[in-house]
Amino acid sequence: PGSPKRTMQTVNQPTQNNDEAPRERVRIFDTTLRDGEQAPGYSMTRAQKRRIAQALAELGVDIIEAGFAQASDDDFAAVQAIAGDLRGPTVCALARCQFGDIEAAARALEPAHHARIHVFIATSPLHREHKLGMSKAQVIDNAVAGVRRARELCGDVEFSAEDALRTEPEFLAEVLSAVIAAGASTLNVPDTVGYTTPAEMAERIAYLRRHVQGIERAVLSVHCHNDLGMAVANSLAAVGAGARQVECTLTGIGERAGNAALEEVVMALKTRSELYRVDTGIATQRLYPTARLLTNLLGMHLPRNKAVVGENAFAHEAGIHQHGMLKHRGTYEIMRPEDVGFARSQLVLGKHSGRHALRERLATLGHEPDEAQLDELFTRFKTLADKKREVFDNDLEALALGRDPDA
Ligand code: KIV
Ligand code: ZN
Repeated sequence: PGSPKRTMQTVNQPTQNNDEAPRERVRIFDTTLRDGEQAPGYSMTRAQKRRIAQALAELGVDIIEAGFAQASDDDFAAVQAIAGDLRGPTVCALARCQFGDIEAAARALEPAHHARIHVFIATSPLHREHKLGMSKAQVIDNAVAGVRRARELCGDVEFSAEDALRTEPEFLAEVLSAVIAAGASTLNVPDTVGYTTPAEMAERIAYLRRHVQGIERAVLSVHCHNDLGMAVANSLAAVGAGARQVECTLTGIGERAGNAALEEVVMALKTRSELYRVDTGIATQRLYPTARLLTNLLGMHLPRNKAVVGENAFAHEAGIHQHGMLKHRGTYEIMRPEDVGFARSQLVLGKHSGRHALRERLATLGHEPDEAQLDELFTRFKTLADKKREVFDNDLEALALGRDPDA
C-alpha cells in the first residue's frame, strides 16, 4: 500500500571542522536565469523565472542575473518583474557594450532595490578577428564607452571580458585596467568555452592581481563553462588564487555542457574550508529543495549520481560501505545530508548489501531475528535482491513474517 518506503538508517555524525579563523567572503552570482536559461531545453516562462528568483533569494545568493533585457520583450519583462519582487539580493541585467542594450538594462532594472548592469565584450584574438572585426584599440574603446554609459545609469557595474582565458594576458590586463578607470567595480574573467585547466586559471588570476591597475578597488570574478568537465575545479582554482565572486548556475545548467554548478562550488568551499578559508552567504540546507524546484519546473531529470543534489549523493548500497556507515558516517560521507537539505543518509538495501545493514533495518522495523533466523532471512533477501533493483521496507516485512514479498 502507498509508494514503497526506502530503507533508511540514522548513522553517526562525521567530525566537524572547528577552524574559527576569520574568513573573506566569496560572492555567489547566480546566472541560472540568464546563462542557464539561454541553453536549449531550459527556457522558462516569466512566472517560472520569478519563482526561481525568489528561491535563489531565500538560498542567499548575492547577485541574481535575471536576464538580457535587450534580447526580447519577454526577457525585459522578466528582469523588470524580478527587480520589483526582490529586496535582498542585487538584481543584474546583461548588456553588450552597446548603448541600446545598456539603456534597456537600466530601464528594466528601475524597480530594483540593488541593481547591477553587467556589460561584456569579447577580447580574444579569435573573437576580435572573426566575430567583432575589431582591433585591440577598438575593443578597449568600446569596453570603456560601455562601462562609462552603464555607470551614468547605475552605481554598480560589472565588466566581462568574454573568452578571457584565450585572450593574451597582457591585453586582458590592459582592458581590465581601462574599465576600472571607467568605473567598473566587478571584473569578470569568463572561461567562455570551458577551455582552461585549474593550474592555468590560478596562474591567470594571480597574473591579473599583479598587473591590473586599480585592482584593489574591484572584485575579481570568475565564470566557467564545463566543456571539458572542469568548470567547478576551475572556479575553485580561481578562488584559491584570489577571485572573490563566482558565477554559476543551479545544477550547472547553461550553454553546451553548462556552467559551474552552484551547489558544487558552495559545498566544496564549505567542506574544504581549511583550504579555501572563505565563506559564502548560502543557506546550504536549501540547496536540495532549490535544485528540485528548478528540475521540477523545467521537467528535467538529474543523473542519480549528480554531486551534492543527486538522489544517490547520500545513498549507500554496498555491504562494506553500509557496515562502515553504521559504525561512523564519516567513513563514507564527507558532507552531512542535512547540510544540503536531504532528510538523512540512505542505506539502500540491494544485492550488494550485507548482513549488518539487514539486521539494523529489520530492528528498526521491529524484528529481531536470532543468528539462525538471520542466516535464513539473509539468504532469502539475497535471492530477492537479485531479482529487484532495490528491496523496500514492505519486502523486508514480508520476509520477516514468512510471507512471499512478491505476493
Ligand atoms: O560565458 C561568457 O563569456 C558569458 C559572458 C557574457 C559573461 O556568459
Ligand atoms: Zn557564460
